[in-house]
Amino acid sequence: MYHIYGLLAKEVSDSTLAVCRTTLQKYSEPYMIQDISQKLLLKQTDSLLEIGCGTATLLYPLTLLVNESYGIDHQLTIDRLNNSPVLDNCHLISGNWLEDTFSLPKVDKVLIYSVIHYMNSFDQAIEFIEKSLSVLKDGGRLLVGDIPNSNKKERFSATNFGKEFNEKWRNTREKFTTDEERVRDTLLETLINRDSLTNTSTDNNNEVISFEFSDKMVVQLILHFRKQGHEVYLLPQEKYLPFGYTREDIVIIKSGQVS
Ligand SMILES: C[S@@+](CC[C@H](N)C(=O)[O-])C[C@H]1O[C@@H](n2cnc3c(N)ncnc32)[C@H](O)[C@@H]1O
Repeated sequence: MYHIYGLLAKEVSDSTLAVCRTTLQKYSEPYMIQDISQKLLLKQTDSLLEIGCGTATLLYPLTLLVNESYGIDHQLTIDRLNNSPVLDNCHLISGNWLEDTFSLPKVDKVLIYSVIHYMNSFDQAIEFIEKSLSVLKDGGRLLVGDIPNSNKKERFSATNFGKEFNEKWRNTREKFTTDEERVRDTLLETLINRDSLTNTSTDNNNEVISFEFSDKMVVQLILHFRKQGHEVYLLPQEKYLPFGYTREDIVIIKSGQVS
């Protein structure tokens, strides 16, 4: 999905649509900032790294809350951001977190938001987080946010409230859908094949580009990092966040002195 997001950064002008959210979800963005800053315990002296920062709808407002920030993403995404003014204390770096080498100072906080499911497997997601922990200071916090969990979604959709909510959501979303959103969705349909049986998506080369977590994977992830000595917590999302009923967050506090 990394390459597809690079393409979206070039083709889609609206910053929310370019990171695959909907026009309606734009209204949730201020609450996402609030939620992330609380879960990461952001403070003015912090250095923050966002891996997979996309069009910086989160990174820029979060930069105002910290001393220094770093954002990493696809070259085309970083080029797009560099075509507009960038805050002096925000450093933009292009590259693929899984494949490239980055020269970064150790940071107080790391954010991986709406990113961890855009891997080819659970093992690759673990690898992505392992590498992220290597740039975090001892006692620092890492938030793996917005993790889609297919079992959570199934539980929610089976309730009467869930059924009514999904119906209402479809109608309201449709009402707010812009022309650019329709063009984006048509483009995505040509690039991505979704398999609802396995909860994975593939690209036109048949490579897996995203997967949904299950309850089991969420628990496995927590155990994996606890076994390494870190404190790991599963946190719920507020219902007013874009996917508040079906996604959840994990916070990892790196073993060492707590900041
Ligand atoms: C849904 S967007 C989320 C953007 C931003 N975090 C937000 O929530 O607004 C996912 C982003 O993760 C980035 N991404 C996915 N895999 C990546 C990788 N291996 N290295 C760096 N960025 C990656 C994509 O390019 C894309 O911009």
